[in-house]
Amino acid sequence: MSAPATDLRAAGAPQGRRQILVTSALPYANGQIHIGHLVEYIQTDIWVRALRMHGHEVYYVGADDTHGTPVMLRAEKEGITPQQLIARVWQEHKRDFDSFGISFDNYYSTDSAENRELSESVYTALRDAGLIETRDIEQAYDPVRNMFLPDRFIKGECPKCGAKDQYGDSCEVCGSTYQPTDLVNPYSVVSGATPVRKTSTHYFFRLSDPRCENFLRAWVSGLAQPEATNKMREWLGEPGEAKLADWDISRDAPYFGFEIPGAPGKYFYVWLDAPVGYYASFKNLCDRLGLDFYAWVKPGSKTEQYHFIGKDILYFHTLFWPAMLEFSGHRTPTNVFAHGFLTVDGAKMSKSRGTFITAQSYVDTGLNPEWLRYYFAAKLNGTMEDLDLNLEDFQARVNSDLVGKYINIASRAAGFLSKRFDGRVQDSAMQHPLLVALRVAIPQIAAHYEARDYGRALRQTMELADAVNGYVDTAKPWDQAKDPANAVALHETCTVSIEAFRLLSLALKPVLPTLAAAVEAFLSIEPLQWSHADTPLSSQQPITAYKHLMTRVDPKQIDALLAANRESLQATEAAAPADAASKAKAKAAAKDAGKNDDGASDTISIDDFAKIDLRIALIVDCNVVEGSDKLLQLTLDVGEGRTRNVFSGIRSAYRPEDLKGKFTVMVANLAPRKMKFGVSEGMVLAASAADEKAEPGLYILEPHSGAKPGMRVR
Ligand code: MSP
Ligand code: ZN
Repeated sequence: MSAPATDLRAAGAPQGRRQILVTSALPYANGQIHIGHLVEYIQTDIWVRALRMHGHEVYYVGADDTHGTPVMLRAEKEGITPQQLIARVWQEHKRDFDSFGISFDNYYSTDSAENRELSESVYTALRDAGLIETRDIEQAYDPVRNMFLPDRFIKGECPKCGAKDQYGDSCEVCGSTYQPTDLVNPYSVVSGATPVRKTSTHYFFRLSDPRCENFLRAWVSGLAQPEATNKMREWLGEPGEAKLADWDISRDAPYFGFEIPGAPGKYFYVWLDAPVGYYASFKNLCDRLGLDFYAWVKPGSKTEQYHFIGKDILYFHTLFWPAMLEFSGHRTPTNVFAHGFLTVDGAKMSKSRGTFITAQSYVDTGLNPEWLRYYFAAKLNGTMEDLDLNLEDFQARVNSDLVGKYINIASRAAGFLSKRFDGRVQDSAMQHPLLVALRVAIPQIAAHYEARDYGRALRQTMELADAVNGYVDTAKPWDQAKDPANAVALHETCTVSIEAFRLLSLALKPVLPTLAAAVEAFLSIEPLQWSHADTPLSSQQPITAYKHLMTRVDPKQIDALLAANRESLQATEAAAPADAASKAKAKAAAKDAGKNDDGASDTISIDDFAKIDLRIALIVDCNVVEGSDKLLQLTLDVGEGRTRNVFSGIRSAYRPEDLKGKFTVMVANLAPRKMKFGVSEGMVLAASAADEKAEPGLYILEPHSGAKPGMRVR
């Protein structure tokens, strides 16, 4: 498939024109884009734009990561198909990326025909290379929902302190860590049932094979970041240590994903087809543009391939993905660039503080996306260190650097140029030493971008802006303008200022693309490229009237932003399994990578409350439960023409005969929960002190007289 378009491109290519494929990690299709994600997409986009400005052939592709259990369950809960859910989320993600100027050449989905085909071909190649093996393993299984349970879908009581509703890895109350199997009274988050152990056949990628280890040892030496290399060395261990474990790449039905060829009922684990999604998105683009996809991805290809990722997913990108590519007959990544995690005002992003800021809320509040691009860029240095969004510093930097130092240069010079000189520059002023210094700096700044040290690129740019402002302050154009005899000097001052502004705009263009486009229109020039440093403004091409290019951040906008994110919580927070899952994931990641925890809610909306079906129940029968000193078994009439069986942990407070014939309140729409003694079909409500140990006592609720079984409580 050698399309003519490729050859045309190659024929017209300037010398040294590189062919570069760049990706950002594929965001999960079960959540909104937030400012933590944006650290990555903005960072990648700046790099891509900086490389495009050299005239290289650069393709930046992305996609939504759509497969897996959380998407499946969330769609089910919303009463739609997974395909409908991911189509909706794709629109939202695309909208957010567009708002922040993320210049994907293609934004696709892992649930695509290309991805199925490529995932299957990678898998069959690995299988044919003898790198796939099956093995029986035992896992937690939900006997009510008939599905295997990922760890984060199991909760229970903490084995140390007894706190209820804790995840299988650690206790939020006492902080101890343990294994999912250690949980006391574990239950499935999906159905409430007690998980059982069940055996099933899984497919493994034999990463422990010496071929993989040897390949990875060699591959690691090319990694750009010393921190990443160290991590890899740790995972690989010493030669002969055989530290790499095989990787479980299959999941049993029901699962939203691709079925494994020749293995009915077995699906590719989402992390198998997700990185292949990079190639699927690129292949889809190649087919559209007439590019030769296979020439880009074949072994020994002269093209370059880079992946930007967060440090939490390094393992997948520096072990599994390169090995998958190597042993399925593809080229391997040129490099992987990992970044750290975002905190806001020194703390994890938190929904209750309003710092779990979604991309959409930022835009809706009227903040300029390029402010955030600038702020992140100023803090990024190409390492895996975490970075902090300090909201006061954010305002100060944008206002003082961008508006005070940079934009001001144009606003001060443009008025005189337009009014006095017909918008035309003084050609003889273009070799002023200040401008020469700026032109010399441009290739250095371009190199800092390519080295991903954006902070350095911007520091150098702002130092140059300081020099320009110093020049203007000394020349005093506002004084020069008072005496017509100084017209030539005034013309020079304004010319140097506006050409300096052009060069500073060039230096900032990868970070501020929208602003740069407005500057290009204002100066009547072609889209700026790095090589244009040496193409000064010309008197032949007058500038247009100056219109204000950027406003200051108003502190009120920041208050509104935080308020919006506190509010959006009320509208969206619900104890959905998918939410619980993403929370668990965020928490787990936060533990080893400092990833932001999305915190707890302060308030819920009336809609959330309405989801709980509270009913008046008549306790028609009540008995002790043999073998349990905590439970009473209640038979409840909720006006349904049948009774319900409910187990309740109130034996310490009530004798069965005290409750028989009484009314109480129950939650009628809880998923049935399979317990040791039978299935519990709901829950009765009881009051207790916050610290039950210090102040024991349980008090079930009883309605005023007149209430009838089945009445709704709302
Ligand atoms: N779906 C996987 C990636 C598959 S790539 C083949 C995933 N998705 S994610 O939505 O959780 O994260 C997407 C990217 O955003 C990851 O690189 C992740 O590290 C990054 N970030 C998510 N939260 C972040 C912060 N709070 N701070 C910085 N980056 C963050 O992982
Ligand atoms: Zn505990």
